This record gives sequence, C-alpha cells and structure tokens, in this order.
Amino acid sequence: MASLGRDLEMHMKKQPFGKTAAGEAVDLYTLANSSGVEASITNYGGAVVSLKTPDRTGWIADVVLGLNTLDDYLKSPFYLGALIGRYANRIANGRFVLNGVECVLARNNGRNALHGGVRGFDKAVWAARELPGDHPALELTYVSQDGEEGYPGELTVRVVYTLNHDSELRIDYSAETDKDTVVNLTNHAYFNLAGEGSGDVLDHVVRLNADRFTPVDAGLIPTGELRPVEGTPFDFRRPVAIGARIGQPDEQLERGCGYDHDFVVNGEMGTLREAARVVDPKSGRVLEVLTTEPGIQLYTGNFLDGTAVGKSGKPYGRRSGFCLESQHFPDSPNQPDFPSSVLRAGQKFHSTTVYRFSAP
Ligand code: GLA
Repeated sequence: MASLGRDLEMHMKKQPFGKTAAGEAVDLYTLANSSGVEASITNYGGAVVSLKTPDRTGWIADVVLGLNTLDDYLKSPFYLGALIGRYANRIANGRFVLNGVECVLARNNGRNALHGGVRGFDKAVWAARELPGDHPALELTYVSQDGEEGYPGELTVRVVYTLNHDSELRIDYSAETDKDTVVNLTNHAYFNLAGEGSGDVLDHVVRLNADRFTPVDAGLIPTGELRPVEGTPFDFRRPVAIGARIGQPDEQLERGCGYDHDFVVNGEMGTLREAARVVDPKSGRVLEVLTTEPGIQLYTGNFLDGTAVGKSGKPYGRRSGFCLESQHFPDSPNQPDFPSSVLRAGQKFHSTTVYRFSAP
C-alpha cells in the first residue's frame, strides 16, 4: 500500500483489477479521507467503482452503482461511473461540420453518436499516476488518436480525481489537440444516496440551479430551444422529489422515458457554481454538484433494466440510480446558438466538477 500526502490519515491504495481482452492490466485505486469517505476508481474508463460516505448517524454506505469485476465492466452497456468522451451525450446523425469539412462519426445510438461512439473514453485503459500533495489525487491520461471514432485531431486528455477534507470528489478535466476538434467531457456516475442496490431513487429530492433546459426531439436531440422550466415538470428550482412528476403526461418526459435532459446551469459558465443539490430524506445524505460547465444532464436511470448485477449482488433496475452529468449541451457541434464545444489546435480545455457529500 502506497501512502501519499502529508496527512497520514489520507492515503491511496492500488490493487490489480484484471486484464482487458487485449491483455492490458487494469488497476483499482482507492482514495480515502479522514472523514470516512472512500472512493475507488479504476483506470478502465476512469470509472468510479465505489464511493462510500456516512449517513446522518455515521453509517457508511456505497452511494454509486458499480460492478464487482473488470469482466463485468467490459460487458456493461450502461457507462456506470465512467469518464465520457470525446463527446459526451448525443451528436445528431453522427456528423457535424468543422472548418467547412464534414466529420462523420461512429453511430451507436440509432442514427446518432452517443458518448464518444462505439469505443468511447469509457472503454479506454487510461495511464494512471498518483499525484503528490495534501489530498489523495489520481491523474488519468488518455491520448485519443486523430480520427478515432471519426473525431479529428490527436487529443490528449488528462483527468484528475481528488478527494479532499471536505468530502468533495473533485474532477478536473483538461485536454489539448493538434487539430481543431470538438470536446465534451463528463463522468457518468449513477448515485443512490440510500446505498447502491437499495431500490429506486424516486424519493430523492432534487434542486437544480437552472431556469431553462434543452427540450429534445424523439431521438433525444435538442431542438435548439432553451425552454424556461417555469410551469413544467422540469422546474427543480425549489426542491422536488424525482418521482413527484416523472409520470406526468408530458411530451418531454415521454421522449426521455423520464428525465434524460440537459439543464442550463444559471450563472456564468467557466465559474464553479452550484448546479444541483440532492437529498435522500431517509439517510440524510446530501450530494451537491458544482461545475464550470454550461449544462448538467439529469438522467434518472430510465434504461437500467435489471441486467446489470451490482456489487452487493442486487440487480440494478429501472431508476435505481440517477446521473448528474456536467457538460456542454448535447449536439452543440450542430447547434450554432449553443456554447461552442470546439477546441482549436494549440488551445487548452479545462473544466471542473465537484461532487460534495454531507449528512447534516
Ligand atoms: C445518458 C443518456 C441516456 C442513456 C445513458 C446511458 O446519460 O442521455 O439516454 O443513453 O446515458 O444508458
């Protein structure tokens, strides 16, 4: 066990997690802080495999959906806890035009490209390095080749996961390219603040710092409109249970089979601000999400179907977890009025998202 950092109560542990079909060795890194929070992350897809946090009585539970073995991850279609890129969420018809040239992407979601294509960053083995410092921090690096899944430019991506004293799991993303390209990076953790495998998340109470959202067409591609949430089941400006309105007759909810929509985070993109706050009334656990990104996708696990069996042996059924994926708006490369997701050659991309846990 390798101990890092000046605080002796903080440490990082590394253990083998298995081998990919190509024989690449993959590890599991466990970051722990002095308040009893522990995060395990694998360099296969950079996935957060487990995240243990105390409830209001001090009882520890694992609050993310995850799988026991690397083999299970290799077979899973659900992006559990993974890093997503080169372009998180959907690009319509798997194509876009950049500098007058059409880029044709791998299509893996009907006609659309989803989460980076057939082999997105969630399926890559990332180079891993423990970073020295006061807090346990894991640096993951992946070099995506020019033309990979159809995206132009060799993109070097660096993601740092840091677990700090305040029980925040902070994710810093950066990227550089040698040709103009598009980038949208996120993490696809599914949370259940009552503990993974404990049923659905419909009782969780959500507040979103968003006056508008991006309505979608039948293929879950944004129409381009930034629609006010006022008077819709998408109004989470005051805390509301996920399940309170999810079954209402509403065209947008029907298209998403529940919530599967991007919200426009109020405030200035590029500044770290609150995007979401979720409370599990039973355990008292609170998750706050802060991000520098312009949007946050609330996805209520509508496509989980019980085929993935989780760490504690329980199947992950529909809505047994929710995702809050900080990101640029879906299909930005085809939406001139959305904040640009273009990264120019030589420019540096940076974004930060913080998942903060408490149980007041
Ligand atoms: C996302 C998408 C969903 C679904 C999941 C993965 O968050 O928005 O529609 O594809 O990923 O199952």
